[in-house]
Amino acid sequence: MTTYTAIRYELDDGLATITMNRPDVHNAMNDAMRRELTQVFTEIAVSDDVRVVLVTGAGERAFSAGADIREFVDVPSLAHYREQRRRLDFRQAMDRCPQPIIAAIRGYAFGGGLEMALACDIRVAGDDAKLGLTEIDLAIIPGGGGTQRLPRLLGRGKALEMILTGARIGADEALRIGLVERVVPAGDVQKAALELARTIASKAPIALRYAKEAVVKGLELPLADGLRLEGDLSALLRSTEDRVEGARAFLEKRKPRWTGR
Ligand code: COA
Repeated sequence: MTTYTAIRYELDDGLATITMNRPDVHNAMNDAMRRELTQVFTEIAVSDDVRVVLVTGAGERAFSAGADIREFVDVPSLAHYREQRRRLDFRQAMDRCPQPIIAAIRGYAFGGGLEMALACDIRVAGDDAKLGLTEIDLAIIPGGGGTQRLPRLLGRGKALEMILTGARIGADEALRIGLVERVVPAGDVQKAALELARTIASKAPIALRYAKEAVVKGLELPLADGLRLEGDLSALLRSTEDRVEGARAFLEKRKPRWTGR
């Protein structure tokens, strides 16, 4: 059992919860947190026990306030920086996860904190959430996928507006522009995200994985190739035992019992 210091990790009945756990600095990300996130997502990606992943921040005030700015004061050599990125890019490990990843966002999600949420598949925010790619105010640019994921989610104009101004926007605006998928009262974020995670986790495991693969990989493909991918994955799903179980359960008017085969 791995012991983590900057994050917490729990696995309960197929649902993995990762909590960024530095509440005294609004869960700012230091090297230890990046290392632990890389490790935990690398392990989750090859786990059959994890059906859905929930990412959240400790405490009530922040999802994450982004990179630990105290680490910015020492200027690392370029070689050190490149090596650090190669070893510690947890978002690449997240991209390799076939399981759906849900972000539960309370309070601040700035810089790398918002980029973490962008690397998740679905974002549930509290009405107290404040979100922004604020790097420009520190004379840097988003370096954790923000310049690529934000325009893919919001379109070029809205993404550039946020990145070039460093604007910190509220939950309602985030919902309106499609930056988050749901907004709930702040105190209900964890409950709402858990409910969503449990709903998803109750579905047939292989169908879940293929559905995510079809959407996520398909978005990077020309339409004809994406349709081909969808067709191939649909055909593969016809060979699962769960597909037969789903049809039987419907006809016998009972709940399906998925085996993941
Ligand atoms: N890195 C390091 N420490 C951070 C941090 C960060 N990204 N964000 C907050 N903290 C620390 C503060 O320095 C403070 O530490 P202290 O108690 O030792 O002084 C503590 O967390 C509490 O933050 P504070 O600023 O006092 O709380 P607040 O509620 O007034 O403001 C924020 C919270 C998040 C609005 C503000 O801290 C902020 O703007 N942080 C920077 C966000 C950012 O630009 N992130 C992108 C980095 S690339």
